Amino acid sequence: MKVTVVGAGNVGATCAQAVAEKGIVKEVVLVDIKEGLSEGKALDLWQTAPVNYYDTRITGSTNDYAKTADSEVVVITSGLPRKPGMSRDDLISINAGIVKSVTENIIKYSPNAKIIVVSNPLDVMTYAAFLNAKKSKNEVMGMAGILDTARYRAFLAEALDVNPKDIQALLMGGHGDTMVPLPRYTTVSGIPVTELIGEEKLNAIIERTKKGGGELVNLMGTSAWYAPGSAAAQMVEAIVLDQKRIFPCCIKLEGEYGLNDIFVGVPVKLGKNGVEEVIEVKLNDDEKELLNQSAKAVREVMDVLDGMEN
Ligand code: NAI
Ligand code: 2OP
Repeated sequence: MKVTVVGAGNVGATCAQAVAEKGIVKEVVLVDIKEGLSEGKALDLWQTAPVNYYDTRITGSTNDYAKTADSEVVVITSGLPRKPGMSRDDLISINAGIVKSVTENIIKYSPNAKIIVVSNPLDVMTYAAFLNAKKSKNEVMGMAGILDTARYRAFLAEALDVNPKDIQALLMGGHGDTMVPLPRYTTVSGIPVTELIGEEKLNAIIERTKKGGGELVNLMGTSAWYAPGSAAAQMVEAIVLDQKRIFPCCIKLEGEYGLNDIFVGVPVKLGKNGVEEVIEVKLNDDEKELLNQSAKAVREVMDVLDGMEN
């Protein structure tokens, strides 16, 4: 079985490494447009195999998609980060162009691949991939919810001084400041988190989670890659091993949660067919309002892309 990761930058290379180290597929192909980058990173990663004890073959390719043929899953991380002076619309236009050409190349050689988008702005780049893949909505999804939930869980583990493995949480909405962490669906080994932490502390963690990406950009001068790469690899694993895991993922909604024709994060079941089920949890009025606001913010950016397509 083969998995392709497009974009051999920080997130792509980390994702390729995480997938390879899981030992769940025969081959990982890294693709990048920059001459030699994917070949170099693939070679370096392959040389960790004897040390880290895995046997997934990692290869690289400069823009030759024939090498990605018959991939089971493709992760798209190619795209530019926003640079000083670049408007939001410029970023959408540039990254949508990249996602479009990458998706077309992928589909040409792997018509049955499940596509996981990571490039930003996430929800709208997932929409762009969906438009160009011309595949069922179950086969094109975006990674953000696992990352955002992981940040939320990590902050909670630290605040409560408990093991991060014991924290289960749910978060919905777009990948941005309007994301909706859900304390009512957050537990520590089954104990509602609201019984273990005061409202003020919990709200501070929720606010920090919403700005989690920006906190890292401020520290490093570029966006994060370890947790994003690992999160994308977890989605790959759920699909290739048909694990039926429940994760928040960005997908196209068609009436679920009262939302239509929009790409936002909701809990889904991931298995060999991609998104096998959308889980509709009950939301109270406040939670619904927050999700609607988040969907509205995503819709505005989808409209920018639609305006560019016309
Ligand atoms: P990076 O700049 O390290 O890597 C991006 C790579 O894409 C570069 O190596 C570049 O040469 C390549 N690339 C550009 N155009 C290409 C094309 N047409 N075909 C193939 N490769 C191409 O960036 P990084 O840090 O890896 O981030 C990648 C994307 O992921 C960015 O858009 C970033 O904002 C996004 N991101 C999304 C997260 C999420 O939660 N969804 C989290 C972290 C990053
Ligand atoms: C992140 O959340 C910026 O999307 C990127 O780290």
